[in-house]
Order: sequence, then structure tokens, then C-alpha cells
Amino acid sequence: MGEGSGFGKVILFGEHFVVHGIPGIVSAIDSTNEAIVKRTGTETVVRDERKTAKGYSQEKQKQQLESIDRMLKAMGVDPKTTFEIQIGGTLPGFSGLGASAASSVAIARAIAQELGMKMSDERTNDVAYEGEKAYAGTPSGIDNTAATFGGLLWFKKNMTGGPNLIERLRISEPIDIIIGSTGIVANTKAMVEGVANRKRGNPEKYGLLFDQAGELAILAKKALLRFELGEVGRLMNENHRLLQEIGVSHDALDDLVKIARKNGAYGAKLTGGGGGGCMMALTPGRDLQKKVAEAIEKKGYEVLRTRIGVEKT
Ligand code: MEV
Repeated sequence: MGEGSGFGKVILFGEHFVVHGIPGIVSAIDSTNEAIVKRTGTETVVRDERKTAKGYSQEKQKQQLESIDRMLKAMGVDPKTTFEIQIGGTLPGFSGLGASAASSVAIARAIAQELGMKMSDERTNDVAYEGEKAYAGTPSGIDNTAATFGGLLWFKKNMTGGPNLIERLRISEPIDIIIGSTGIVANTKAMVEGVANRKRGNPEKYGLLFDQAGELAILAKKALLRFELGEVGRLMNENHRLLQEIGVSHDALDDLVKIARKNGAYGAKLTGGGGGGCMMALTPGRDLQKKVAEAIEKKGYEVLRTRIGVEKT
């Protein structure tokens, strides 16, 4: 039997822009997906015990099987080898927290252990990236990077196929955040393709927005490292505006952002693929975190209270 685990994540800056080579900032959260893998003699079966899996569309199930297939190929596993794969973990069933990447990392690690293969984190990350392609089409690799390595990371995709730039960011102390879920499941692949198509159709407008996203990420990195949380929040608000302009927000996300800001969050933005999924708000200090979380719950949305920048996640 092999076991593996992968972290969930929140993107603080740069979702969608990272797909096109703009830098972004991501943090793992202390919730994970876990996988247990056993070799079986017949056919590969997946038992997905995560909450979301019950509502999984046929499309998502197809993506999951394709993802496993891609990872087995990337690992050089004999295609005749079949497995029983069980997936579970503590990551809540909200869309936008990197569950597909977390499960890909967990599965890759569990398969490697079951087959007695030694796999470094770097190799695991490459294998999980292959798996992510089934879910996201042309992913940047930011989700699987956070799922593999954990912590708070600066990420820049290498657009010519070489290794991505991954830099660990160390901040003075972890910061409380809340994640609000719209309850709407969006298709990341379609969202990523939508941005690429609109960018192709309007290169001037999108060029300017992408430049702004790049500048914003650089400022955000500096502000985080100096622990200037007011500035980090302001930049998150700016980032949300850019995401609205490239067409990936949603009324429910804008509503969540509004409630969070009205109740004192330093900043709030959508996180992940958008079109539904989740909003994240910067709420340092337990009192502020509680206030914002309760205001959001009162409006009927589900909330996760967590932290970013925890070294061991
Ligand atoms: C999804 O969590 C993040 C996106 O930027 C896609 C990607 O980077 O692969 C939307």
C-alpha cells in the first residue's frame, strides 16, 4: 500500500496572469488531500471520498481519470499496471482551493510509494503538472507547485519550457485570512481558455492589464516581505479589479468581496480560477477574522478560517 498527501492553496496575487508568464504569489493552507493506493489485478478504480466528489460531473470524472493516466505515463509506469486509488483529506469541498492539484500530488506520491520508486519533490511536481493538464488545459503550474512544496511562494512560469521560477517567501509571522465560497463550481479549463481567447481578440487592452498585474505582483512581494499588511490588502483589491476586467469574476464573488471589505478586511479578491469558486480576504488578528467570517456566514456563504505563510504547510 502507498500513501501520499498534497496541500490545498490560495493564490494571493496573479491567478490567470501566471498562465501567460506574469509572476504570482501563492500560499499553501493547512488542509490537504490524501491518497491511498494499492495495486489490483483487474482495472484502475478510483474511490473519491471527498465531499465534492459526490456532486462530481461526468466531465470532472473524465478529467480525473485522464489526469491519473497522464501521471502514470509521466512516471514511466507500465500501462498494464492497475490500481485501487482512494482519495480523501481535510481540504473543504470549495472550488478554487487547488483540490485537483492537491489530489494529483497525493496520488503521484502514493503510487511512487506503492511501486517502491524514489521520487523527489521536484519530480513529483513535474508529474503532478502533467496530471493538472487534464483539469486546466494549459495550466501555469502554480497550483501543483504549492500542493507539492507548501509554504508561501513566488512563482513565475517559464514560457520556453525550462524550469519555472519558484522562490520561498519568508514573512515575520503567519497571517489570518478567511476564504468565502460562492458554492458555484466553475470549470477552470474553460475559464483559462476564455482569458486566452479574449486576450487574443483584444491584445492592446489585455497587454496593459497584464503589465499592471506584473507590476502589482512585484509590489505585493515587497509589501509582504516588509509585512506592510495595509499595502498588501490595497494591492489585493487592485488585483480583484484587474480580474474583473479580464472577465473572470462573478456576481457572487463581487458580493463576497464587498461584505469582507465592509466588515474591515484589509483587502479581498477572488482566488483561483474565478467564475464562481472562492474569495479570499486578508483579516489579520483573530477578532477581525471572526468578524468578517461571521458577516459572510450570515449571508449564507460557507467560510474557511485559515492562515497564510505558515512554514510547515
Ligand atoms: C487556478 O488555481 C489558477 C489559474 O491561474 C490557472 C493556472 O494557473 O493554471 C486560473
